[in-house]
Amino acid sequence: MSVEGRDFIAKSIGDLDSALSRARRDRLRIGLVPTLGALHDGHFANIRKAAAESDVVVVSIFLNRLQFDDPKDLARYPGDVTTDASSATRAGADVVFAPSDLEMYPNGAPEVVVDPGPKGQVLEGASRPGHFRGVATAVTKLFSIVRPHTAYFGEKDYQQLVIVRQLVKDLSIPVTVASCPTVRDGTGLAMSSRNVFLGASELAGAASLYRSLCESRDEIERGERDPGKIMKTMAHVIAEAPLLELEYAHVVREGTLDDVEEIDTDVRLLLAARIGDVRLIDNLLACPGAAG
Ligand code: PAF
Repeated sequence: MSVEGRDFIAKSIGDLDSALSRARRDRLRIGLVPTLGALHDGHFANIRKAAAESDVVVVSIFLNRLQFDDPKDLARYPGDVTTDASSATRAGADVVFAPSDLEMYPNGAPEVVVDPGPKGQVLEGASRPGHFRGVATAVTKLFSIVRPHTAYFGEKDYQQLVIVRQLVKDLSIPVTVASCPTVRDGTGLAMSSRNVFLGASELAGAASLYRSLCESRDEIERGERDPGKIMKTMAHVIAEAPLLELEYAHVVREGTLDDVEEIDTDVRLLLAARIGDVRLIDNLLACPGAAG
């Protein structure tokens, strides 16, 4: 594709508009991969998917302070814009949009924010008050700045994906939301920018998140239909793992955050746990009919 040449970092909305002017004029398909920076293989897979499906790929790198409820988490968030921009470009980004805090929020904290509604209050929202309001506000801004046809979000942040789908529906934002499969390391640990904070023994413990999800999914495939029993299995595997402390284990109807009374349809298994001062989340789809 042709914007202003590859390896282009737009630091302002004006720069981005210039970079995308031809693409917009020629009605090329613009794909957006929003990120907080600290890019890893999960992001690169999302960028490759966007590149395969779009004419122009914009990767945004913006450490959105509004979605951090814990200032320490924000202060130590890893990532370097120059390194991230070149790796995003290598993965297939045509334009990197890396606005400053002032560019995104010229008056400091914005007066008008986006309320994610009840879906923003539960699970991650209950553990991290204000988190999804920050996400919804930044994502809405990115959608109106970049004006993508499709925006790509990782399935790893399942609740975020559900909320963003609701957001575009309720606010009639003309963006298709595409989900990208979770990328895992050899132990099954889902890629996350925060994994760099885990030492060797913590990494070994963290692998139990995926083990817990897989064991629970297998139980469902073998015929277990009681979500309470599945949540117990999830919690039990975490309790047996060294260093891990469970925050929640939950079963919801696939594509929603709704509880199920009986597992008679596809469900999403959701887990959050702490290991030292690092919080990890993961999830897995389980289909009751899958084992035949
Ligand atoms: O998932 C993320 O990296 C962030 O929540 C997002 C979507 C870039 C919004 O700041």
